[in-house]
Amino acid sequence: MKIFHTIADIRAQIRLAQCASKSVALVPTMGSLHAGHLQLVSRAKEIADVCVVTIFINPTQFGEGEDFDSYPRDLGKDLNVLEELCPDALVFVPSIEEMYAGGATRTWVNNDEMAKYLCGASRPGHFQGVLTVVSKLFNACPADIAVFGLKDVQQFFLIKKMVVDLNINISIEGVPTVREEDGLALSSRNRKLSPEERDQAPFLSRAIFAARTEIEEGVRDGGQIEARMAQELAAATHGKIDYAQVVLTTDLAPVDTIRSGDIIIAAVAVFFSNARLIDNVIIVVP
Ligand code: PAF
Repeated sequence: MKIFHTIADIRAQIRLAQCASKSVALVPTMGSLHAGHLQLVSRAKEIADVCVVTIFINPTQFGEGEDFDSYPRDLGKDLNVLEELCPDALVFVPSIEEMYAGGATRTWVNNDEMAKYLCGASRPGHFQGVLTVVSKLFNACPADIAVFGLKDVQQFFLIKKMVVDLNINISIEGVPTVREEDGLALSSRNRKLSPEERDQAPFLSRAIFAARTEIEEGVRDGGQIEARMAQELAAATHGKIDYAQVVLTTDLAPVDTIRSGDIIIAAVAVFFSNARLIDNVIIVVP
């Protein structure tokens, strides 16, 4: 496994692979790798000749008072895990100075329309940070395909829209959420839950899967499904509900009346004492 710290070096290595007619898949991460990330790496290995993993905790996607400082970091462990799964991987571990031109970055990528819903409503500026760093990573690592987890569903659809809007030459592949046996979606933030919160956290998945069942059984009132999800979360957890929403995948706007053929997302977010958890399911409406 080769590790790179500068944009010039990783870019040159990727170009070399592409000149040898090898396809390259990129897996952007913020480290603290868990089985969900490893699923992304496995998918990248399946679909391309060369797998590039980036590990960069991006400061610009954390708002004031959010957990940038306490975000879990264990580069040594991450590299060991990657080495075992993908000994041929190219790993890009830039510094903040390298990614943000020594603090001189003045250009930002935004999609305020789609960022204002779901997580964007309570995390102003978060998706500007995500879109900016992802476009920087796409430029630094000019891969053919990039693989993202569908757990961060708003991020996924924002990135898909960004590559279309900015004519970025990369395909975006989504990988389904990996879950614990009790349904809890894997997240680096799960380790910040107290034992009591850990017991309550699977109710996020129960709420969204119940929404899917309701839709499959013919419920068409988005507001009714949202109210039921919120009620269930309020009854089952001590967390503070951030949102319980049903939105369209096309623009992420809330759906009042669900129509056959729509592709929609039932999504929830709950603040626990030291972690905000999210979960979602994508539903093709019958
Ligand atoms: O999903 C993440 O881990 C991050 O938001 C990403 C895409 C690596 C950008 O920092």
